[in-house]
Amino acid sequence: MCRLVSWMALAISISKLSFAALPSNLQGGTDFSLVPNRFIIEIDTAANIPSKRSFERRHDAIYSALRERGIKLKVDREFDSADLFTGAAVTLKSSDDVAVVLNTPGIKAIRPVVLIPRPIPASVKAVTDKSDPAVPKTPQSTHIMTGVDKLHAEGLTGKGVKIGIIDTGIDYTHPALGGAFGPGNKVAGGYDIVGDAYDGFNTPVPDSDPLDQCNGHGTFVAGIIGANPGNAFDIVGVAPGATLSSYRIFGCAGGASDDVIVEALLRGYKDGQDILSLSLGSPFGWTTSTIAVLASRIARTGKVVTLSVGNAGEAGSWYSGAPADAIDGISVASVENSVLLVQKLIVGGVANDPGVLYYSTLPLNIPGTLPIYPLSNDTTIANDACSALPASTPNLSGFVVIVRRGTCSFVTKLQNIQAKGANYALIYDNGSGFSPIDVGTWAGKASLIRESDGVFLVEQWKAGAPVTVTFPQVGGSTGLPAPDGGLLSPFSSWGPTNDFYFKPSLAAPGGNILSIVPKGGFSVQSGTSFSTPFVAGAAALLLEAKGKRPDVGRSARTLFQSSAKYVPSSYTDGGPLQSAIGQGAGLINVYDAVHATTILSKTELVLNDTANFKPVQTFQVTNAGKKAKQYSLFNIPAGTALTFLPNTPFIAPGPVPLSPTGATASISPQSFSLRPGQSREVTVQFTPPKGLDATTFPVFSGFIQVSTPSEVSVHASYIGSVGSLKSVKILDTSTRVLPYKMPSILDSKGLVQEVATNYTFSPNDYPTLLARQLFATPLIRMDLVDPNIKIDTNVKRALHGPHHGGHHPWFSFPFHAGKGGGSFSKVKIVGALLEAEYLSRNDEILGPTGQPYRTVDFTKAIFANGTTIPNGQYRILLRALKVTGDKRKQKDYETWLSPIIGVQVPAN
Ligand SMILES: *[C@@H]1O[C@H](CO)[C@@H](O)[C@H](O)[C@H]1NC(C)=O
Ligand SMILES: *[C@@H]1O[C@H](CO)[C@@H](O)[C@H](O)[C@H]1NC(C)=O
Ligand SMILES: *[C@@H]1O[C@H](CO)[C@@H](O)[C@H](O)[C@H]1NC(C)=O
Ligand SMILES: *[C@@H]1O[C@H](CO)[C@@H](O)[C@H](O)[C@H]1NC(C)=O
Ligand SMILES: *[C@@H]1O[C@H](CO)[C@@H](O)[C@H](O)[C@H]1NC(C)=O
Ligand SMILES: *[C@@H]1O[C@H](CO)[C@@H](O)[C@H](O)[C@H]1NC(C)=O
Repeated sequence: MCRLVSWMALAISISKLSFAALPSNLQGGTDFSLVPNRFIIEIDTAANIPSKRSFERRHDAIYSALRERGIKLKVDREFDSADLFTGAAVTLKSSDDVAVVLNTPGIKAIRPVVLIPRPIPASVKAVTDKSDPAVPKTPQSTHIMTGVDKLHAEGLTGKGVKIGIIDTGIDYTHPALGGAFGPGNKVAGGYDIVGDAYDGFNTPVPDSDPLDQCNGHGTFVAGIIGANPGNAFDIVGVAPGATLSSYRIFGCAGGASDDVIVEALLRGYKDGQDILSLSLGSPFGWTTSTIAVLASRIARTGKVVTLSVGNAGEAGSWYSGAPADAIDGISVASVENSVLLVQKLIVGGVANDPGVLYYSTLPLNIPGTLPIYPLSNDTTIANDACSALPASTPNLSGFVVIVRRGTCSFVTKLQNIQAKGANYALIYDNGSGFSPIDVGTWAGKASLIRESDGVFLVEQWKAGAPVTVTFPQVGGSTGLPAPDGGLLSPFSSWGPTNDFYFKPSLAAPGGNILSIVPKGGFSVQSGTSFSTPFVAGAAALLLEAKGKRPDVGRSARTLFQSSAKYVPSSYTDGGPLQSAIGQGAGLINVYDAVHATTILSKTELVLNDTANFKPVQTFQVTNAGKKAKQYSLFNIPAGTALTFLPNTPFIAPGPVPLSPTGATASISPQSFSLRPGQSREVTVQFTPPKGLDATTFPVFSGFIQVSTPSEVSVHASYIGSVGSLKSVKILDTSTRVLPYKMPSILDSKGLVQEVATNYTFSPNDYPTLLARQLFATPLIRMDLVDPNIKIDTNVKRALHGPHHGGHHPWFSFPFHAGKGGGSFSKVKIVGALLEAEYLSRNDEILGPTGQPYRTVDFTKAIFANGTTIPNGQYRILLRALKVTGDKRKQKDYETWLSPIIGVQVPAN
């Protein structure tokens, strides 16, 4: 079946320069971009390639067929994995050739090459280098949270299991990774597919050494999976016995085009990796991207593929990342570490050192023992050091200055004390705060201490004690319980996918994670990039325990999901459990997964939306233990996610508001017993929650818990919505993001076109379509129609608008939809201008990484197939298909009609 998957076609990067006239907060980048004229073609089986001559390779038969059709193409990279993916990454002379390629028999699909941004951690708190001295052992808090410590105690380390990491490379010279590369070492293999200088657009320069000393992301990931014990921080990987391979697809800067990620996946598969881990991607929300499709195919062969759900939690629901949307992959959300690493200083000159902690992962760089100098004897002063210090203040260079928090910024306070020669400071809180603070250029020389400790120091000093402080460079590290430990990280992206797949699959620790960085260093970073390798390591323990077999690989997600632990939405009494579209099935518990003796056949119960509601769900419960068991089943509802702002068409930003009202479920049978080896089918009939505000598009979720006395329970998770996706508005007609309504046509001056206008389609005179998607769409079409067309449009056009700053190259894509009849194809068009499939929504919340709207420049008077548009009068018909809509039905589209556009190309 021929299929044009051009889902990112409309998401091409908006040039920042051309937006000079727009408010600065709108001069954003983009979540995905296309690499100009580059495509990935997928080639069908030999039987489906008609050919006059015989070719040894399917590739050559296709190239020959394309050449016969006049297509000039440059082959950038070939894929030849018979069972997974046969095709090539190619550069075409023009994107106008796509239609011809698509209609060439033997071409299965053509998708634009997409740029995947380099992963940026949600936060990076501290870095150090090789010279940093050792600090004492800290508890492996993330292992304790997830039962990994207990598996290590049983001797499981992932030995014999091969894990491929697709990332920025690995600095294997780090002692914690064994210090060497090649067979027999921890980092035993892999490949540098791109080279240091690669940025996603230039030509990759591959070599066989995937060393990364310029970026560090992949090294941090590798440390989470495989760090050897005995290092400075005593970090231990989840699977320190596993063998790692590094497939380097990012250079030192920039992104990676997805064809190199396809190559990495195929190489990893060919090299026999048991597990592939990808901490990369962008918000997307569809299961259809090239990498997601391939990752899913690899997972179906019995390999485990772990993928980060993304760091777009701020942007709210329906925004899970690609390729984490891979249907059979494990999409990983993040919870916060239960322990924060802080430092302890030594107080001298007092009878009893109270044990003052300061908020820093690494020791402050303050040598020796120094006296303190409190700026005020009043421990309630509101504006300490907010203005220039009095002339009477001594030279503070020999002191650690004690300042109270409040009124002005930390940086202001530090500037004022710096004017008096100060080099070091401790700021004590003005309440119960204890968290990292921004000290600007004073990093490493100033930190926050708790209020009680600050008061103690000042009181002792006032009383005449010769108070001193010492900052141990070794041995000062200590763990502090994190107030949000075990809760969903605010940055963790929310699902489900737009086609209602259960994403994220589950959660693992990814907030405040200590791991290694290149050149012998350590740091604390946050992101779903770091919860993902945790699950890869967990899968290695599972494969070691149960055997490296495809059936074990295929069962990994189900086992991890059934044994995961519910994540609360907060620690305040009465808060509901976190929604399953944020936490997935819960926080992974690897020990319980490995030792589970109750097996569920299905752990994701998708009830889908109201129009496609599947209220009756069934799954099998199997007693895989050695003793007979008595089971009881319960519905444990989670908070219902209110995914839109009430009475608006706008997505609710994260943290997604929750209602405690969940679905009810009638479970049959509710209790039963099973002998060892016996199974029983369970049927659950769900009733959605009632009384919720339907305008918030509530997504309910929860868990069907299967409990046995004296054993940990297991569960299947469910998600469903109150409301139909087909009713969700797609095209924005509000002034929320731009100060005029959309959609609209912008004329050559960048003004909203309000009356019939002729264009010459010269470089300075062509129309631009401006639109903004509030929600995803499976298909957008732009067609040229007769100016007098009679058609019901359900989107009113914008009437007024201020100046708009220019023109922006977008993307014009050939069309193929609307085949097969139906009311869509009955709308009489003159010709197609553009079609794009599987678009994510426009996002205004994420700032520079989001993309608040889109524009299409019609720079040439040509149809999508490259044929010239005859001079004349037309309108542009814009149609956006509703999610779950039928593309053959005109009423399933949102439709907008432009003012009259005259094509007046001068003859020459
Ligand atoms: C502490 O200082 C901050 C910053 O000036 C201020 O917002 C806050 O209200 C103060 N808290 C107390 C308890 O005074
Ligand atoms: C404080 O003393 C140090 C060391 O003697 C000197 O370098 C610095 O200039 C002095 N600063 C001020 C503001 O007096
Ligand atoms: C604070 O107390 C100390 C010790 O009693 C005294 O030397 C100093 O002058 C006091 N400072 C102020 C600003 O009152
Ligand atoms: C939900 O329903 C839609 C419409 O029928 C369908 O396309 C989609 O695949 C369903 N989702 C799942 C996960 O079954
Ligand atoms: C556009 O061009 C056509 C054909 O030359 C002409 O009839 C029409 O008046 C022009 N429209 C405008 C608005 O200039
Ligand atoms: C291209 O599309 C136009 C408008 O639909 C049509 O008239 C023309 O015949 C097409 N050209 C080719 C080469 O298919």
